[in-house]
Amino acid sequence: MSGSSASAAGLRGFSGGGCRYSLLTIIIWTVVGFFLVVHLVSLYSRKDNNIHDDVSSSDQLQVVHQHQHQHLHLHHPVVHQLVRVEEEILRMPPPRKRSPRTSKRRSRKPIPLVEEFLDDKSPIRHLFFPGLKTAAFGPTKDMGNETSYYFPGKIWMDTEGNPIQAHGGGILLDEKSNTYYWYGEYKDGPTYHAHKRGPARVDIIGVGCYSSKDLWTWKNEGIVLGAEETNKTHDLHKSNVLERPKVIYSEKTQKYVMWMHIDDANYTKASVGVAISDNPTGPFEYLYSKRPHGFDSRDMTVFKDDDGVAYLIYSSEVNSVLHIGPLTEDYLDVTPVMKRVMVGQHREAPSIFKHQKVYYMVTSWCTGWAPNEALAHAAESIMGPWEKLGNPCIGGNKVFRLTTFFAQSTYVIPLPGVPGAFIFMADRWNPADLRDSRYVWLPLVIGGPADQPLEYNFGFPMWSRVSIYWHSKWRLP
Ligand code: GAL
Repeated sequence: MSGSSASAAGLRGFSGGGCRYSLLTIIIWTVVGFFLVVHLVSLYSRKDNNIHDDVSSSDQLQVVHQHQHQHLHLHHPVVHQLVRVEEEILRMPPPRKRSPRTSKRRSRKPIPLVEEFLDDKSPIRHLFFPGLKTAAFGPTKDMGNETSYYFPGKIWMDTEGNPIQAHGGGILLDEKSNTYYWYGEYKDGPTYHAHKRGPARVDIIGVGCYSSKDLWTWKNEGIVLGAEETNKTHDLHKSNVLERPKVIYSEKTQKYVMWMHIDDANYTKASVGVAISDNPTGPFEYLYSKRPHGFDSRDMTVFKDDDGVAYLIYSSEVNSVLHIGPLTEDYLDVTPVMKRVMVGQHREAPSIFKHQKVYYMVTSWCTGWAPNEALAHAAESIMGPWEKLGNPCIGGNKVFRLTTFFAQSTYVIPLPGVPGAFIFMADRWNPADLRDSRYVWLPLVIGGPADQPLEYNFGFPMWSRVSIYWHSKWRLP
């Protein structure tokens, strides 16, 4: 048989028992079979998601819970605890007369528990803001066997026994000293309204810094960037606003660079500020402020990628859209490159993290100091497009999940030694007394199929779920 006739025979296939199969037919059926299997798997995973919608919320959480186990290989018993679903039952007090301020809010906020949260005279206020005597935790407290447990919403003490003042904060892991630094708004002053209709505010005191080796025991390193007391034209004059400071380290210049939201009391300046230091504990030298790319910028964060490129992410165009752009190599400015993402979605309080080459972001909706529903997004490129994954909150109760556990995202820290696990850092703002705002730190886990969008690649969900698990008490593995 010649080569050509052999291949022709091959293509035509073989015959036997009176039945003829062509090689082409076999290939076609193999391909069809493959797609059928893929389709069945995809149907199964969709069905799985639909089940989530049908069953009661606790069962739903249980299903998601099981996914986490498959994806994270959570053998360690303490890690196992992180993804345990914990319910909260809060009993509503009987209806009563409210202050005019609260009843004004009522028309906008139909959820009764949120009304209670916002009402500083609420008889169940201690559930959201438990008091110092009964509910403080930290290294100076006699905690018996409870040492190193986080108690989200309770008062967190530093190593000197004072409540930690680092709101809207972020964490820097200093690789030189293997130390964590927590930077945040130092708000230990009286809360007032600059104007009748203006937001509750605290005069700028500065950026607080705390250091820790274990992410639980925090030593106060003092105010590393302080307010300006006299010069009224200075950005940091105490009558202005300094929020959400974040620090990154530049290997290139060997400097610690701080980015922050700089504003006036009416939030009309809408700028970012930059400060620099040779040491993580400061003092930081304030350099300047600007409107990045010529746009208004309010809630913001910075994210330093594995390749050393850092990005500024900020709510812009009156908080209707997020802008993302790389910083210059020395991290002291933005470059002209900028992308508009989550256009028209009105997201703020951005926090970005990365896992297996995928970028994730948790944000809040824009309701000032009042809590609202968080959303998780994912992207293959940090510059977008960003795909909506849905509300990451699990456990507590429905209102907890619709209010991000009565808190707002600020930062996400990779959990040392557990790939795919993180700590979600959020602020439970107390608009009646901002210095008494609480920290809600909770385990965040990436794994299992996302709830939305149901974007499929060969029938497989494209994105993993981001899940933040409520715990009234938990500790690191
Ligand atoms: C929030 C924002 C906070 C603070 C507050 C002022 O939306 O996330 O950082 O700016 O508004 O009302």
